[in-house]
Amino acid sequence: MIETTELQVAKTAVREASRILKKYFRQENVVDFKATYNLVSQADRESEKAIVEIIHRAFPSHEILGEEGQTGDISAEHLWIVDPLDGTNNFCHGLDHFAISIGYYRNGQPELGIIYRPMSDEWFIAARNQGAFHNGSRCHTAAFSQLNQSLIGTGFFYDRGLQMRQTLAAIQALFEQDIHGIRRMGTASLDLCMVGCGIFGGFFEFDLAPWDHAAGRLFVEEAGGIVSNCEGDSIPIAHTSMIAGCPALHPILLETIKPFFQKAANTA
Ligand code: IPD
Ligand code: CA
Ligand code: CA
Repeated sequence: MIETTELQVAKTAVREASRILKKYFRQENVVDFKATYNLVSQADRESEKAIVEIIHRAFPSHEILGEEGQTGDISAEHLWIVDPLDGTNNFCHGLDHFAISIGYYRNGQPELGIIYRPMSDEWFIAARNQGAFHNGSRCHTAAFSQLNQSLIGTGFFYDRGLQMRQTLAAIQALFEQDIHGIRRMGTASLDLCMVGCGIFGGFFEFDLAPWDHAAGRLFVEEAGGIVSNCEGDSIPIAHTSMIAGCPALHPILLETIKPFFQKAANTA
């Protein structure tokens, strides 16, 4: 992979964010609620601050959109999309499955996706037209052709109403097609990496924020997979539903999941 300045800066930012997250993990960490069930902690905020400082020092004119307050213009020529701690709920409960996710977009197109899992020192890096790599080794989505060969990942936004019930109904429909299992790992960026590495046959979620999917969607695509929203359309740089899968499973997942998502949208 070509070591562009953008990639080097992103790695520096991720290393600093990782240092901060490790400092707070299973230690005193002030936790607030953005909304019921939606936690945010001192670690999230400090991590974003460090990432923003490092990107802005290198690229003062670039825009940054970040979960903890950065409101970068999504139509900018150079846009960074940052989740300083993906998996906050896991993190705050002492579960070590969480990540830092940074996407770099040029003129609305994903150019770089960097996802890092601090507690296992795992790098997932994708660059446009250059492939997807896990700790330096090239990744490919699974070769499964049927749902009954695969694990499927999913996630819930912090909704406990209709959207959650429809997600559960979609999971039931997937079980009726004999999937090997559902995994709700709590870190969407890593779920997408699992699709890119061929561990999950697919993944779906009814509401993801830009920072949840900006880097991971490129990872899936560069690993040879397909990404769309739950209606089969391309993913915007905005809140969106998502289905990601290996090439043969994506259409099957879309057909299975779409009716539940439509119902949710129509009756919300
Ligand atoms: C959340 C996680 C989770 C997904 C949620 C996201 P956060 O991000 O990625 O897996 O199901 O939709 O909001 O709040 O931990 O950064
Ligand atoms: Ca997130
Ligand atoms: Ca987050």
